[in-house]
Amino acid sequence: MNKKVEISFQDEKIELPVITGSENEQAVDISKLRSQTGLITLDRGFKNTGSTSSSITFLDGERGILRYRGYSIEDLAQHSSFLEVSYLLINGQLPNFNELNNFKSEITNHTLVAEDVRSILDGFPPRAHPMGVLCSLVSSLTAFYPKSLDPNRSLQEINGTIIRTIAKLPTLAAWSYKNRVRQPIIYPRNDLEYSSNFLHMMFALPTINYEVNPIVANALDKLLILHADHEQNCSASTVRIVGSSHASLYASISAGINALWGPLHGGANQAVIEMLEQIRNDDGNVKKYVQKAKDKSDPFRLMGFGHRVYKSFDPRAKIIKKTCDEVLEQLGVTDPVLDIAKKLEEIALKDQYFIDRSLYPNVDFYSGIIYRALGIPTDMFTVMFALGRIPGWIAQWKESREQNEPIGRPRQIYTGEKLRDYINIKKR
Ligand code: ACO
Repeated sequence: MNKKVEISFQDEKIELPVITGSENEQAVDISKLRSQTGLITLDRGFKNTGSTSSSITFLDGERGILRYRGYSIEDLAQHSSFLEVSYLLINGQLPNFNELNNFKSEITNHTLVAEDVRSILDGFPPRAHPMGVLCSLVSSLTAFYPKSLDPNRSLQEINGTIIRTIAKLPTLAAWSYKNRVRQPIIYPRNDLEYSSNFLHMMFALPTINYEVNPIVANALDKLLILHADHEQNCSASTVRIVGSSHASLYASISAGINALWGPLHGGANQAVIEMLEQIRNDDGNVKKYVQKAKDKSDPFRLMGFGHRVYKSFDPRAKIIKKTCDEVLEQLGVTDPVLDIAKKLEEIALKDQYFIDRSLYPNVDFYSGIIYRALGIPTDMFTVMFALGRIPGWIAQWKESREQNEPIGRPRQIYTGEKLRDYINIKKR
């Protein structure tokens, strides 16, 4: 039976169709609402608004479910690799042996970045935040691959841009760090796997042979899988909306990196560690900070807590917490902020304020502690998130283009002045 929603407005009744997704989630299709009633909908922060239909990622925030192309995040984190997950997200299916090998070798062949990008990098001051450097360098790729600007290029050429994006991101991300610490950049090594190669470019020096620790490389690969996509969040929506103007993939991804940067989104992982350190320096007084987070006159929030869609738990946070314990034990690292994080979580989860608002630790609450144990500096945490999110952004961009989505252009309710006469400056 076709379900419908009936709306009555000014003695008029109209029926709007209900759309049902493959997991039975339902939406009222309002595409004819304005033409039939003159009304638009108003939904600040898009809390109730679906912007598209998508077959990439399924997320059920009430039940704590996250799946890429139908595969559970738990399964993928345990059995897959980041490049396999990237293939899955972008192409819709898990690759067979040959498909995966071809995908990997195509990526490996494009890890090198044009030498001229180095002169752009050299122009940044040492204090430049690596996220700002990264999005600028990604955007600069349009200058080196001008054909990527053509929205009507062939599928093969589009695929070339996709491969280059995945291949060059670790190189650009590691270089954004090298700029920060004023060390010579390190070139990619094509004999290494994706995550190992990134660690090599981050930590090797021209004078020292850097041996990649497999525990570190495996943990990083898992973290990248957990961050690979998250349906229509702030940065993915940004990527889709920029792409909807037929801007290039590089421009769209660069915009996604900027959207991710903010502390309410991907920047939360840096903010969490800064918060935990602040608590540690304040005699580890966890209760004081829980109190501050509850105080409406205080702008302080518990970073790494709460999520727009997860209202029971964030399944990624569960996996990360367990991985965090394992990695610290395997590496023999003790981190005092881990104890503070656990204490904070324990107190907050029992507190009525957090219970009433369904506030749980999110993916970023424990990821920073693992990154620290892996030797990654705090202001690189959000870059790590961006590196993981690349295949998701690409899949979202590609799907939006394949669905030939119209340009993203929300409406508004105007609350400004009505028409008034221009006043000469002498009379104002
Ligand atoms: N600490 C204290 N109170 C919080 C927190 C928090 N971290 N998060 C939400 N609340 C409270 C709000 O004050 C609000 O209370 P009220 O109803 O009494 O006014 C209520 O919970 C709902 O919060 P909203 O901000 O309306 O929820 P929204 O869905 O818009 O925000 C968000 C979600 C941005 C993630 C928010 O929970 C937050 O700021 N968390 C901290 C930052 C963070 O960890 N971001 C990473 C998210 S995961 C990711 O992007 C990868």
